[in-house]
Amino acid sequence: MDFPYYPINDFGPLMKGMVIGGVGIVHVFLAQFAIGGGILLCVFQWLAMTGRSKLAREFVDGYFRWLVLISFVLGALTGVAIWLTTIQISPRTIGLMVQEFHWLWATEWTFFCLEVGSGYAFYRYGPRLPDRTRLGLLMSYSFASWMSLFWINGILSWQLTPAQWLEDHTVWSGFFNPSFWPSLIFRTITALAEAGLFACLVINLVKAWTRAEKKEMLHRAFYFLAPMAAMPLVGFWYFAVVPDDSRRWVMGESVAMTMFMMLGVGTSLLIGCYAVFMIFNRRNFISAMTSLLLIALAMGATAGGEFVREGMRKPYTVRNVLYCNSVTEEEIARLRIEGCAIHDPYPLKDAAEIPTEQLRLGAKVYRLQCSICHTVDGANGILGLTRTWTPGQMRLNIAQLQRTKPFMPPFAGTAQELEALVQWLAWREAESPATWETSDRPEVLRQIQAHLDEVGTVSGLELMHNKLGDGKSAKAAQSQP
Ligand code: HEC
Repeated sequence: MDFPYYPINDFGPLMKGMVIGGVGIVHVFLAQFAIGGGILLCVFQWLAMTGRSKLAREFVDGYFRWLVLISFVLGALTGVAIWLTTIQISPRTIGLMVQEFHWLWATEWTFFCLEVGSGYAFYRYGPRLPDRTRLGLLMSYSFASWMSLFWINGILSWQLTPAQWLEDHTVWSGFFNPSFWPSLIFRTITALAEAGLFACLVINLVKAWTRAEKKEMLHRAFYFLAPMAAMPLVGFWYFAVVPDDSRRWVMGESVAMTMFMMLGVGTSLLIGCYAVFMIFNRRNFISAMTSLLLIALAMGATAGGEFVREGMRKPYTVRNVLYCNSVTEEEIARLRIEGCAIHDPYPLKDAAEIPTEQLRLGAKVYRLQCSICHTVDGANGILGLTRTWTPGQMRLNIAQLQRTKPFMPPFAGTAQELEALVQWLAWREAESPATWETSDRPEVLRQIQAHLDEVGTVSGLELMHNKLGDGKSAKAAQSQP
């Protein structure tokens, strides 16, 4: 048996995706700040060296301390936290990413080492060093941190648009996938904007400067928000290369995604308006409180953007290869015959409280196939979603899960397992009574089998494309955007 069983953790009432998302969004935000911050410091160091600004050198030292504190301490901690949570929640996906791109991860880590090395050197010796060395260290710091974005971005964007890689499985066609460039450029613009906003906060905190001095520096910092003008263009580019089913969800077919998208666009627009206001009117001032508020808005924009990017990939963690519940497209047909739970080596936590064998099987099926995106009665709780359904409706809709909602994977088990799941849901809904009749009527199982066979193991996205009659399969649609 080569289907890998990893232990499955449960974070209810939180959905697992929310756990990764919570850590991920904070990390992305801090990491982008580190990248933009490095570039911003290079520019300010250059301003100081060329005599364009008397205050720039002092600013560089002050800002750098914040940058190091936030990006090294919080950034590194949340970075480790991402590895920790993702391997708890989705070990098979992480395994596949490491397997396909191990040398690129290794390369990324060498840049991270360079970033830490030059950052630490600047932190320790910066104030005593001559200007040229300072600039050198800052350039090496920001180059290294941007390069770590470069490498990670290729691996993350591959998850949504593997395109050519699906045919040839080479590292480089996976890495330079269709969404690589737009997302790299978009993140770089975001990084610069974040760095500019943090600069406003730091400038406000310098006690020694007069209001006029602060104003001069604030206006310089705001130029780092100017590239945001290109965001709509790069955004369109991104949405032009993502699979069109994903785009449809964002454009309204999945309203939660649409709303998060609007949150991202709306907050970015507000920040952009403020930037225009600052850049074109030299008399304006921005206080520490306003800077903080803008930083919070930027965090909201990041949250919206990351939610959409991750959500768009459903039902896959690696498109057309691996479903979110760690079953591959290819394995489903086999699991429909063999069953998904027969070799699951892990006992149920509450096995003693479950009265029958069938219900215990149902609990395992839920844990293996559904618990990655659902909780029982918390966020996206499965009991709530099925509360009004009849048993027949439940059997049909779960057997044809990919038709029920194309962002769910096809059911990957036997008719017996499906019935066990239905019974377990009914038993939980009935508040887990001490006895429960086993359901094993052959005509029910035959009916479930017929439902399963009717749609087969084709993914919901493939079905969507066929129905739209655009003549393109889901795979073809994403390699030729
Ligand atoms: C890739 C993530 C994912 C997986 C895996 C998944 N679901 Fe879902 N499911 C969702 C999302 C997202 C929704 C939409 C919830 C909403 O509309 O509020 C949903 C909705 C549902 C609904 C309600 C459908 C409707 O039309 O109202 C049911 C029932 C359901 N899931 C059952 C299951 C079962 C049973 C499994 C396991 C065999 C499962 N899901 C696996 C993500 C998933």
